[in-house]
Amino acid sequence: MKERVAHICSLLPPARVYADVGCDHGFMAKYALGHGLCERVYITDIHAGSLKKAETLLRREIAAGRCVPVLCDGLEGVPEPCDFVLIAGMGGEEIVKILQRDGIPARFLLQPMKNAEKVRRFLVGSGAKPERDYTFSEGEGERRRYYDVILGCAAGGGGYSEKEFRFGRDNINGNSPYPFLFQMKEELCKTEERLQGRLGAASREKLRARQLQLEEIISEVEATL
Ligand SMILES: C[S@@+](CC[C@H](N)C(=O)[O-])C[C@H]1O[C@@H](n2cnc3c(N)ncnc32)[C@H](O)[C@@H]1O
Repeated sequence: MKERVAHICSLLPPARVYADVGCDHGFMAKYALGHGLCERVYITDIHAGSLKKAETLLRREIAAGRCVPVLCDGLEGVPEPCDFVLIAGMGGEEIVKILQRDGIPARFLLQPMKNAEKVRRFLVGSGAKPERDYTFSEGEGERRRYYDVILGCAAGGGGYSEKEFRFGRDNINGNSPYPFLFQMKEELCKTEERLQGRLGAASREKLRARQLQLEEIISEVEATL
């Protein structure tokens, strides 16, 4: 199992009925059922080929009625409300589109591959409460990759600061500083390298602004350590 998938599995909460939206391989649903985290899981995917992979992996659970495959967009074809919904490995805009149309589930775990800020703005703007909101990493050195994850519930949310929307609440409040700090420092190095090259005035100004923003957020996070 890839580190990203294993990390997501480690965050899965107990709930009666799960949905794994965009299940593809189906590893997360398999893990949830195998670890007794839920009674039943709907696995959905918009592509028949992807759903087929999960159906193969989960054939025994499907035969036992504990896993129900649904070929659909988001949660559109799921016949009952789910206590917990996982949407991982999709773009943030696609995640927002699904939640806008199908509603924010009682509990959710979202792992957007990009545009995490748009997901945060949508959730908080809709009254949802992100309980964990941080960056984790997979791999080492050149191969290291960073992912945002947001775990929370539909109600009870408060406000977010602009920095929390932009960077993720736990990344900047000292609850989960490290992978985020590595990511910001890597980005700062790349920005500084690019500033050494030949650039037009507008590009240089933009990069310089990014450099200052990164330096500021790095020192703020380091102050929480
Ligand atoms: C990169 S895979 C991620 C698989 C798995 N969730 C993970 O995190 O490893 C994204 C999957 O989402 C599916 N998908 C994309 N948009 C979707 C939508 N609107 N509704 C359901 N599935 C969707 C794709 O077909 C694909 O199988």
